[in-house]
Amino acid sequence: MSTSRRLFVCTHQKSGVGEDVAKALKKELKHQGLKKQVVDGQKLRTQVQTCDCLDLCRNCKKGPGAALIAYPEGTVYGNVRPADAAELVTEHVGRGKVLKRLRVEG
Ligand code: FES
Repeated sequence: MSTSRRLFVCTHQKSGVGEDVAKALKKELKHQGLKKQVVDGQKLRTQVQTCDCLDLCRNCKKGPGAALIAYPEGTVYGNVRPADAAELVTEHVGRGKVLKRLRVEG
């Protein structure tokens, strides 16, 4: 059986940083070889998807970064910038740990 994880990145900011964050996350998933993993014997595929406002605007419009939600975990990250993509992919996707530095309450 295979399952999937999705990283939904808000692209509703005026700055358009969300598009750059999504691109950086996709690049890092590929670069770190984490688009497909086997976790606890199950195939897990991670995809990045852009979306409209996630209703987390205080974490999106007031800083230089974008908000994103990881499903199925339901972890919410705020003010994510393209430069954070490598660390976020390593920790959240690769190690299955919450990147506390960027975590916000949903
Ligand atoms: S504008 Fe990004 S969450 Fe609303």
